[in-house]
Amino acid sequence: MVLAACDAEVNAADSHLSQAALIDKVTGKDGLLCLLTDDINDAILGASPQLKVVANVAVGYNNIDVQAATRRKIIVTNTPGVLDDTTADFTWCLLLASARRLAEAERYIREGKYTGWGIMLLCGEDIFGKTIGICGLGRIGRGVAKRARGFEMRILYTDAVRAPAEVEGEFGVQFVEKETLFREADFVTLHIPLLPETHHYVSVKELKLMKKTAHLINASRGPVVDEKALVQALRERWIAGAGLDVYEQEPLMAAGLTELDNVTLAPHIASASVETRMKMAVMAATNLVEALQGRRPPNIVNPEVLA
Ligand code: DGY
Repeated sequence: MVLAACDAEVNAADSHLSQAALIDKVTGKDGLLCLLTDDINDAILGASPQLKVVANVAVGYNNIDVQAATRRKIIVTNTPGVLDDTTADFTWCLLLASARRLAEAERYIREGKYTGWGIMLLCGEDIFGKTIGICGLGRIGRGVAKRARGFEMRILYTDAVRAPAEVEGEFGVQFVEKETLFREADFVTLHIPLLPETHHYVSVKELKLMKKTAHLINASRGPVVDEKALVQALRERWIAGAGLDVYEQEPLMAAGLTELDNVTLAPHIASASVETRMKMAVMAATNLVEALQGRRPPNIVNPEVLA
């Protein structure tokens, strides 16, 4: 689609470009299609005076300095909506795997440790009928809630703004304050954006509020969890387990995290189904082409640029 609409230089190697290489590639270009691993800072945005649009192939756009883009009158776009169900599904993969110790069980078999059925072998926690706590009742949080009903769970949520009563009714969710949610939930799952005010949204205080049998699930953004504190909580069994798809400094992880058995780790793949990644790519390409052809792209993050 992009190639049909304009001349394009493609990073066919699919390799991560350094800041210097990105500056070099952006120079003289009108548009940039990028991934969330590309740190699009002011220097990159300033590399091409005619840069009109930066289209991120992700719903989150914390990798882009949107303020700087707006100041430079550059449109920023993202890919909302198309990955909600896939991400909600994967949140449940992590939750189920963490509760039932699936990754640990798989390692156990592969390491040749399985010598026969054992009454207490790799016992985990039940999921059905328990309490799930959803932090952030946006599109993905609602998808997680929908699925939780199938497990006959009590569904708590917390958010900066309480949802309208009809939404609460539709999803069968109950609003509580953050502290109550961390205290009462058997599974706490995070679906909040990374903002200055959500940095380390989960730290020592929240981890200490959680039940010893509880699990923390994070498929949002790494820095919303204080990873060092989480390693301590898992090591000292303040909580039973965690399922993580994202990390504070991807692809790095806090010291000790990979040595723990009670954490299920995934490499930021919550939206990684072939169907969804295709939809994200097409959406980002549409945003890019629309902006380059002088039309308003459907998923603009900083509409004030067009005002
Ligand atoms: C996003 O889109 O923000 C996800 O983290 C990657 O799919």
